[in-house]
Amino acid sequence: MEQDGRFVSSARNLTDIEIENGLRPTSMAEYIGQEKIKNNLEVYIRATKNRKESLDHVLLYGPPGLGKTTLAHIIANELGSQIKVTSGPVIEHAADLAAILTNLERNDVLFIDEIHRLNNTIEEILYPAMEDFALDFVVGKGPSAKNMRLKIQPFTLIGATTRAGMLTNPLRDRFGVICRLELYNDKELQQILERSADILNMKITSDASLEIARRSRGTPRVANRILKRVRDFAEVYGKGGIDLKIAKLALEMLEIDDMGLDHIDRRIIENIIKKFDGGPVGLDTLSASTGEDSGTIEDVYEPYLLQIGFIARTPRGRIALKSAYEHMNLPLSRQKLNQIKMFESEDESI
Ligand SMILES: Nc1ncnc2c1ncn2[C@@H]1O[C@H](COP(=O)(O)OP(=O)(O)OP(=O)(O)O)[C@@H](O)[C@H]1O
Ligand SMILES: [Mg+2]
Repeated sequence: MEQDGRFVSSARNLTDIEIENGLRPTSMAEYIGQEKIKNNLEVYIRATKNRKESLDHVLLYGPPGLGKTTLAHIIANELGSQIKVTSGPVIEHAADLAAILTNLERNDVLFIDEIHRLNNTIEEILYPAMEDFALDFVVGKGPSAKNMRLKIQPFTLIGATTRAGMLTNPLRDRFGVICRLELYNDKELQQILERSADILNMKITSDASLEIARRSRGTPRVANRILKRVRDFAEVYGKGGIDLKIAKLALEMLEIDDMGLDHIDRRIIENIIKKFDGGPVGLDTLSASTGEDSGTIEDVYEPYLLQIGFIARTPRGRIALKSAYEHMNLPLSRQKLNQIKMFESEDESI
């Protein structure tokens, strides 16, 4: 159906690129939710503009589809700066990064997506660039080799990653502002959906937008994607507008259940409960048994399952919690329940 075979996946696919280009907010005022991050950034931006300096380097991290790329562009907009966009895996040679850095103009924003995927030698070029706005290099060989330093324009690096844990300490320490994006609540997603519907020129009732919001696993990208599909259903089965009945029908046809889970989420939970007696089960074992990549489980599926309290992460692996048994209609023995309570006390994810 979708490129990665999964409708509610928060990973980005081609259709998203089309939709996102039109729906992406371009100012802080349009960016819904993440209030604390927004408030802090607004203060920092105003202060640096007053001082006519470059903004401290910013690290944005959190699960896919929560608005990291969007926010990076907004920061540049609000600063009135140009933004240069690249990504970790694209920068293959030290010279590529050196070229980007020397071409920056004063107070530009350099956005590096997937910054955890920069290789080590390239990362080391970033250290003096971030700290002293300089590039260090060696000229010549042997005893006559000389260390040279080239000044570059002051700039702001914005790094985005779904895996803050994979960043090296020296790199992480060089970011003055570190923002962890959180999953959105239903009200915020509802606002995002209503804004999107407006832009797409669609009528949607508020109970319908709330229903879609509740099933969008806390992720604006998923919400927008569902909205687009629901619109197709509305055009075929309804009078064009989206009401609760149409929204529910479409969600049912898309096999998104009332908690926003799709068949893969359900398979993950079912595997933990049935094959591994509720856990604990290690990530790699779970990945082998479900046929899903372990990185994808960690980045895309787990954050939401943890958030809604269906699973927990313990030092020994993932366990299914009581509400997961209830949701899947699977029996939970008293003995297992006691075990869950014990595991919950060592939960690392809370
Ligand atoms: N706070 C927000 N308000 C309104 N819309 C949002 C918000 N955050 C994200 N969106 C919508 O969700 C889409 C996905 O956001 P974005 O591409 O910025 O996510 P991301 O965190 O960069 O994802 P990835 O990790 O896959 O790169 C955007 O195009 C935008 O339409
Ligand atoms: Mg992005």
